[in-house]
Amino acid sequence: MLKAAVIGVGSIGQNHARVYREMDGAQLVGVADANPGNAAKIGNRLNVPFYSDVEKLLEEQKPDLVSISVPTSLHFSVGMDMIGRGLHVLVEKPITSTLEQAEELVAAAKKKGVMLAVGHIERFNPAVMELRRRLREGMLGKVYQIHTQRLSPYPSRIQDAGVVIDLASHDIDLMRYLTGEEIVRVYGETLQSINSDREDMFNGLMRFRSGTVGVLNVNWMTPTKIRRLTVTGARGMFDCNLISQELFFYENETGPSQWDALSVLRGVSEGNVLGIKMQRHEPLAAELADFVAAVRDGRQPTVTGQDGLETLRLALDFVRSGSEMTVIDEFKVPQ
Ligand SMILES: NC(=O)c1ccc[n+]([C@@H]2O[C@H](COP(=O)([O-])OP(=O)(O)OC[C@H]3O[C@@H](n4cnc5c(N)ncnc54)[C@H](O)[C@@H]3O)[C@@H](O)[C@H]2O)c1
Repeated sequence: MLKAAVIGVGSIGQNHARVYREMDGAQLVGVADANPGNAAKIGNRLNVPFYSDVEKLLEEQKPDLVSISVPTSLHFSVGMDMIGRGLHVLVEKPITSTLEQAEELVAAAKKKGVMLAVGHIERFNPAVMELRRRLREGMLGKVYQIHTQRLSPYPSRIQDAGVVIDLASHDIDLMRYLTGEEIVRVYGETLQSINSDREDMFNGLMRFRSGTVGVLNVNWMTPTKIRRLTVTGARGMFDCNLISQELFFYENETGPSQWDALSVLRGVSEGNVLGIKMQRHEPLAAELADFVAAVRDGRQPTVTGQDGLETLRLALDFVRSGSEMTVIDEFKVPQ
């Protein structure tokens, strides 16, 4: 049985701890948090040893793998420390704050021969998994556009990242994952408003090699939470609600209409709507199960360190595009 530990048991880390605690393939041997109150609260709740000193947790419990869910600005230092000790690491998204750090972290994991996974959790959303399967089967035909909306109120606990690397990185990763394609051009508009000293509103456009266009609408300025993904293509549109885990397919009407006023519409008109049935599950449970299985079986996790790095590279390009008001097309993103 693999021994798991969680470092940083705040908002998301406490869920990592709960999921490991309930998992069959791993044993949660302890949690650590720089805030002793947090460590004690989660340790007591889950009935596992807790520490405010990470060093002591490692010495006493000797985990094989760790989830790192400390604030983003600490992903690099904590990640390098864990990798240096030969532990397999799942680091929350975004992989690090800077590209140089991400490159160093990925290289360190490779050199040490340990697994490095990144918490781009939406890949494990059952609605996304179903959507990807159907896109691959060709249900939509040629894909014209992928459009995401990720809108929320401002989370005051996030002090060390702007909305692009913190939130839009989910959508950038999803677009890379769904298309599996190289990106040739990005353009972003960002706005820093009332909430923070970094951007808290982002609108982005990305162009894929095949011509597919990605549209991102992401902010911390909306007084409700919306997580929506639509994919428009030759045969219609998929509409995915990432919160309720629902997926609909709006089919283009192909046959001639009997009603003249409608039959004059050529190209695209409304056809059947299909609600796609699927088995729902907790994305985090699937993500951690994938990580544990990757460690156990010695295979790559679904979201590799390299994936985290490429997503961060694009996110930072968007930030640069927004601040310099330029289209960025000088890069080639390796897939
Ligand atoms: N995948 C997702 O959907 C998702 C969701 C939320 C947050 N996140 C990511 O997870 C990370 C944490 O976010 P959060 O919202 O849980 O933050 P948070 O502030 O709620 O939790 C962070 C915890 O880390 C602890 N901590 C700080 N420094 C530490 C250290 N050196 N060692 C041990 N513990 C330390 C803090 O005391 C706190 O309890 C961020 O990088 C964020 O982007 C990902």
